Amino acid sequence: MKVDVLLGLQWGDEGKGKIVDVLTPRYDIIARFQGGPNAGHTLEIKGDKHVLHTIPSGIFHPEKTNVIGNGVIIDPLSLKGELERLRAKGVAPEKNLIVSKKSHLILPTHRLLDATYEASKGDAKIGSTLKGIGPTYTDKTARNGLRVTDILSDDFRNRYDSLKKQHLDIMDSYGFDYKSYELDGMSFDHYEQMWLDAANEIKELKVMSTENFIDRQLREGKSILAEGAQGTLLDIEFGSYPFVTSSNTITAGVCSGLGVAPSKIGRVFGIVKAYCTRVGSGPFPTELHDNDGQKLRDEGNEYGATTGRPRRCGWLDINALNYSIMLNGVTDLVMTKADVLSAFDEIKVCDRYQEKDGEITQEFDIEKSGLEPLFKTLKGWKTNLDDKTKASEFPEALNDYLKYIEENSGVPVSILSVGADRDKTIVLRDF
Ligand code: GDP
Ligand code: IMO
Ligand code: MG
Repeated sequence: MKVDVLLGLQWGDEGKGKIVDVLTPRYDIIARFQGGPNAGHTLEIKGDKHVLHTIPSGIFHPEKTNVIGNGVIIDPLSLKGELERLRAKGVAPEKNLIVSKKSHLILPTHRLLDATYEASKGDAKIGSTLKGIGPTYTDKTARNGLRVTDILSDDFRNRYDSLKKQHLDIMDSYGFDYKSYELDGMSFDHYEQMWLDAANEIKELKVMSTENFIDRQLREGKSILAEGAQGTLLDIEFGSYPFVTSSNTITAGVCSGLGVAPSKIGRVFGIVKAYCTRVGSGPFPTELHDNDGQKLRDEGNEYGATTGRPRRCGWLDINALNYSIMLNGVTDLVMTKADVLSAFDEIKVCDRYQEKDGEITQEFDIEKSGLEPLFKTLKGWKTNLDDKTKASEFPEALNDYLKYIEENSGVPVSILSVGADRDKTIVLRDF
């Protein structure tokens, strides 16, 4: 068996959580391979909304196994909160959740370092979620980090104190007064005690070498879906550096983040919102600062699932989409939030850019400055899609929009999402 992959093709928040939940019945195992609680994956099941941060989006299916892979970084206190919120909804997450012992830990001082670095950057700040992502991956690559396996050691407290001291020394050098900084509304000392208690509770979960578990499952013929976080344009290598996250959000990240060989990758579902959004700083060629941008935000309820920040909105960028398809080897597109575009008379898609010297190009190069997006205008459908179940029932303009994307990307749109709820999903092609 191979590992199928589902990931975001834009700047995150494409609706990955919803689609993973919808596809979970087809798989035995759902596995997160990168990122941490900077992710906010929303699931709506019969009107009940739930946001997941570190736990895979298959958790609402009790007979499926959910894996937090080695490439994911874990904040034990955030994870504990997630587990408790799930239990309050009648889910028993500890029964079908497996955690890699190689996953790195986000310490309270990693979150403080995130705040220190962002404050020091002033106007050039990344717009991080301040969950400690950058500093934790930094310690990982510097071979300095603490992992889940360290919690199991008798020496854990010493290792924790030693890394904390290094962090406090860095903050001192920046003049950052950590004692007066609150974490989730708590003093540092209070938060730290809660974090240490939560770290201890990770011992009660199923902790193992998940790469070996996954290999065994594949040999037994089990099917696996790898769930991405963030989006391709936030990838540490290919995103709009430095306005990126600190992990590989692309298909290649599945190999290192779960211990899966490249030859074991199967289908790649690329999730694309029917328009574009971005939270945080950094270039966004099709961003709209006008009424249409505000309308997309209002109709799409574009406010961050993790931080509540308003998302920047703009039209779809077909060249950026093709760049993401290229990097990930996408076999199937999944378009979400098509219903949001029902409010528009006309829909635009950026199909070319004009360079500073007047040259026209279709090559997406986010680091080139002064690219002017040029748009193709398509007809809107102005039709409520709530009761639609198949393409033959769609308004012609919606089918034209899908056809335009398929023809210009060379990849089929296999699933269309027309609402936040699980039920509002239309499978257009078999896969
Ligand atoms: P993720 O991070 O990729 O999982 O996406 P988020 O959960 O951060 O953001 C997607 C938002 O859009 C959530 O509020 C979802 O409930 C919602 N959503 C997902 N698919 C659709 C859709 O097809 N239509 C509408 N209107 N909302 C959707
Ligand atoms: P999901 O999985 C959207 C953005 C932040 C910031 C940049 C770096 O829900 O799609 P970080 O906290 O990683 O240091 O922030 O990346 N960002 C996201 N934007 N969705 C996400 O996750 C994101 N995770 C990080 O806003 O611009
Ligand atoms: Mg999100």
